[in-house]
Amino acid sequence: MSSDGVNSGRRKFLTAATSVVGVAGVVGVAVPFLGSWNPSAKAKAAGAPVKADVSKLEPGQMVVVEWRGQPVYVMHRTEAQLEDLPKLDGSLKDPESAISEQPDYITGIARSLRPELLVVVGLCTHLGCAPKFRPEVGAADLGGDAWLGGFFCPCHGSKFDLSGRVYSGVPASTNLVVPPYSFEGDNVLVIGVDAEAA
Ligand code: FES
Repeated sequence: MSSDGVNSGRRKFLTAATSVVGVAGVVGVAVPFLGSWNPSAKAKAAGAPVKADVSKLEPGQMVVVEWRGQPVYVMHRTEAQLEDLPKLDGSLKDPESAISEQPDYITGIARSLRPELLVVVGLCTHLGCAPKFRPEVGAADLGGDAWLGGFFCPCHGSKFDLSGRVYSGVPASTNLVVPPYSFEGDNVLVIGVDAEAA
């Protein structure tokens, strides 16, 4: 049985995940929770890596994987979404992730080991709410034509692009955190093990 701290963290996370699913459902985007490969709660609390099979993740889809009691967003970006990323550089606080937290082996504006696969901690860098997945281009409530898809934090309105890069003019000051991760073969994402150490 896990400790109270873990239970409390998990409750909070489940609430956040439910909220993401609920809102995403309105715009027709499902955000499933992927947990079948996770180790025990006790092992997770100790920081054990978690593995997720990403072979079934279709372009445009996102899943949430729990790691160390935190939601990790794993998203398969489409070609069009990747092509849109450079268009946003002028609207962002840290487009090159110079001051944001990510492993050394994560570089460039895609902020990922494999261009199509985004892996970020799903906690707002302002005060830790779970940003909502809002991939729809041109969402009227998020800036209309200027919105090319991303994540929106409902707590105080921070916005992030589909690389988890934070917009200017919002409370959060750094990009969503990229956790350490690597791959086993083509299909297994390992969160919590650095690519160089894998
Ligand atoms: S916690 Fe996200 S904007 Fe404040």
